[in-house]
Amino acid sequence: MNNLGKFITLEGVDGAGKTTHIEFIKKYLSDLDINYVLTREPGGTILGERLREILLHDEMNHETETILMFAARNEHIDKVIRPNLIKGNVVISDRFTDATYAYQAGGKGVKDEKIDILKKWVQGSLQPNLTFLFDLSVDISIERLNKTRTLDKFEREDKNFHENIRQKYLMLAKLSPERFCILNSEKSIEKIQNQIKLKLDEVLR
Ligand code: TMP
Repeated sequence: MNNLGKFITLEGVDGAGKTTHIEFIKKYLSDLDINYVLTREPGGTILGERLREILLHDEMNHETETILMFAARNEHIDKVIRPNLIKGNVVISDRFTDATYAYQAGGKGVKDEKIDILKKWVQGSLQPNLTFLFDLSVDISIERLNKTRTLDKFEREDKNFHENIRQKYLMLAKLSPERFCILNSEKSIEKIQNQIKLKLDEVLR
């Protein structure tokens, strides 16, 4: 079910530059007079943001973490994503379920099959129409992260963890090439933005 609106998600390893490009996407959609909501995971609702605080800072069992990600996602779908898609709005979510496969399965070893069950329960047939994957070598992403603000618990993980996440994302993209648009974050901002623009035009047409 995506009824009328389009559902676009943004994914990638930490430090891959999503934030810069979100500003561009916002401006591009506003210039086209397209109604959109920008939201994020974990988060996007009052309860989801409270869960985000816990998820990003408290250590916990990896499966507990996975279930809490989906609890926040269930609230997000119910309160924000579905209502906006039904209204015909574009919904842009800074991360969604691919992140759970990448981080909790790829990074922390939770079984894909367990995530499949939660996904089916929480999402039903809801799927993003388009997923931008910001891809970047782990050495560069870690270098960028180290220059930034205080790191959360995921960002503080080692190189191997981030490499596993990157590889998992690339595998997910390979499995659903019709949905994913891979953006090489080592290219110039201008080149990436051109690629984003072309893809948005194609999906929102
Ligand atoms: P952000 O830094 O892009 O806002 O994302 C928050 C962190 O949460 C990021 O390190 C990835 C992580 N995350 C998961 O581990 N699993 C998930 O399902 C989601 C949505 C995010």
